[in-house]
Parts: sequence; C-alpha cells; structure tokens
Amino acid sequence: MLNPCPNFRWLVLFLTTTAAAPSLLLRQAADQAQVLVGTAVRPYLLSDAAYSATLSHEFNMVEPEDAMKWWTVRHTAGAFDFREGDQVVQFALAHRMKVRGHCLVWDHNNPDWLAQGHFTPTQLSQLLQEHIATVMKHYSGQVFAWDVVNEALDENGHVKNSPWYNQPGVGLSDKGTAYIEQAFRWAHEADPQALLFYNEAEGEGLNHKSDAIYAMLKDFKQRSVPIDGVGLQMHVSQPDLDTAPIAANIARLTALGLQVHITELDVSLPLDSSGHAQHSDLLRQAEVYRRIVRACVQNRGCTAIQTWGFTDKYSWIGSHSHGTRGAALLFDRTYKPKPAYDAMVEEISRKP
Ligand code: XIL
Repeated sequence: MLNPCPNFRWLVLFLTTTAAAPSLLLRQAADQAQVLVGTAVRPYLLSDAAYSATLSHEFNMVEPEDAMKWWTVRHTAGAFDFREGDQVVQFALAHRMKVRGHCLVWDHNNPDWLAQGHFTPTQLSQLLQEHIATVMKHYSGQVFAWDVVNEALDENGHVKNSPWYNQPGVGLSDKGTAYIEQAFRWAHEADPQALLFYNEAEGEGLNHKSDAIYAMLKDFKQRSVPIDGVGLQMHVSQPDLDTAPIAANIARLTALGLQVHITELDVSLPLDSSGHAQHSDLLRQAEVYRRIVRACVQNRGCTAIQTWGFTDKYSWIGSHSHGTRGAALLFDRTYKPKPAYDAMVEEISRKP
C-alpha cells in the first residue's frame, strides 16, 4: 500500500478513488470484518495530536495500559481516583470506540499501601470486593469487557503466590482457583452487563500453562461461574513463532462457549546500538502479526485483537528489556505504518 507522509495518510485515503487507491485503514477493515481491533493507551499522550489522530483513525477499541490498575485508581488508601481512566473513556466515546477494562485483580502494579499493608484475609476480602464493585459500577455502560483477574497462574499452571491468594489471601488460601472464582462472582454482581475475562500471559499455545487455564475455565463453565471469555496476551519475542498451537488453543477455548480476545499483542525485535531493528526482522515480524491475526479471525469466537500500544515511540518493551529490544508495534516512532500494519489489514480483510 502507499505510505504517504503519516499525517496525510487519512486525507489521501479519503480523496483517492482510483484503482490505485491505498487499501483500507485498519479501522475500516476491522469495521467491515466486524472484529474489534484495539490498542493499549496512555491518557497523558492523548494531547499529542499525532498520537490521538492515529489512535482514532486506526482502532475501534481502546484499553488503558495502566490507568485502571490499582496503582492508578487506588494510589491513595481510602480514595478512588478515576481521572486517568475517565480520560480514556471520554476519548473513546468521542470517537465511537469500545473500551476494555484492565484489570481488577493482579499481584502486580498495586500501590505500596496495599502490598505492604499487612491486612488480614477479612480486610483483604472487603477491600477487593469494594474495589471491584466501585470501579465496575463507575464504568458501568462504558467499559464493555473487563479483565477481572490477570496472570494468576505460573508457568507450570499452578496458582501463583499473591496477596489475593495466599499472602495472606482473601480467605480462600490453598483452595486453588477459588479466589479467582470469587472475584468473577463479585464482578458479575457489580455489573451484570459487562463481559468478564480471565487474562493470561504465556498460555497462548499448547503447554502446561494453557492446559491449566483450559481446565480452570472448563470447570468454571461447568459450574456456571460467570465468565465470558479469556484474554491471550501474546507478547511475542520469537520471529519464527509457530501459530498452529495458538489456533488449536483458541479452538478448544471457544468450544467451551468462551470468547477469545487477543489482548496485548506485540512482537519485539532486537535493536542495534543506535536503537534500530533490521529491515529483514521487520518483514519477519509482519509475518508473525499476519499469522496471529489469521489464527484469530478464522475462529468466530475470537472477537477482538488488541496490540499493547501502537507506536514504537511509546512501548513498555523498552523498559522491560532494558533497551535491548523494541520496534514491537504496528507504527514506527514517527507514526509511519510498518510492514506488520499492512499484514494485519490484509488478514483482517480476508476474514471469512
Ligand atoms: C505493563 C505496562 O505496559 C507498563 O506501562 C507498566 O509499567 C507495567 O505493566 N501484562 C499485563 C500488562 O497484563 O498490564 C502489563 O503492562 C504488561 C504485561
């Protein structure tokens, strides 16, 4: 496709009517295919014109990267601060985008007062139920789907140590997935309309962890625990990723009657000393994006694909990898679409 100066891409697309017209924008392709294509966002960047223009033209869904986590909403003990999350919701409303909420229960990104508070299980249980109820009611009708519980299992599929499980936990310690189930029940009470997701890392393909996720969700469905879907994070660092096991995993999860959302897709690349990725790696990255998108859109139960940020200018990969990796997203640091962008548009346009 044509890659005119990024700031004029939308204008060119709307004015060009010849056979040589550039292909659809990502958002147009997503709307036509009736699939949600979203991205994680940081509210303090919405005032950057290039950031907000790319966001609103290219995506039909957003998720706050950090703005609805405990460390933002509950920065201070005893108070709720919804300002940052509200900014994301206002932007989404103004641009007719859906909002995914992330996340209500996690052992990371919690404020110090909670992590080091030496609360009793009874106190933690009250705190968590109050948090879930207050946050979900605040965003009721605005956030259509929530990651209720994030990353509760370890790489072997065992329930992870966490303040909510057994340190000291909400009163269900050593009862396996019971605390996760409890969180879903509280979430359903708080907002019966919201779709409730379990979100997890490194359980995208077929392995011990995805087997454990599958077993837990099958048990939940059999016992009518209120859960609607599973989020597969999809932080990829292998350029030769085999996506057949991912398609198989999506198939068995959707066969349970669950929706699958790809929630945090990025494909990080090694960077040279000046911070650039090799062109050949960008092409291989595009194929990884293509195959992951294909694995999702070929299954009717896989209803959303979301990237963890959209411009290489702002991505968690930099700090996470101490600067050794990056270039993981669809647009480069100047908001120019990369080969991965074209691959994603093409695959979404081919949705059966
Ligand atoms: C990351 C954010 O991108 C960073 O800004 C923050 O400092 C730490 O958390 N899995 C998740 C996300 O579910 O919430 C994480 O987001 C990335 C890994």
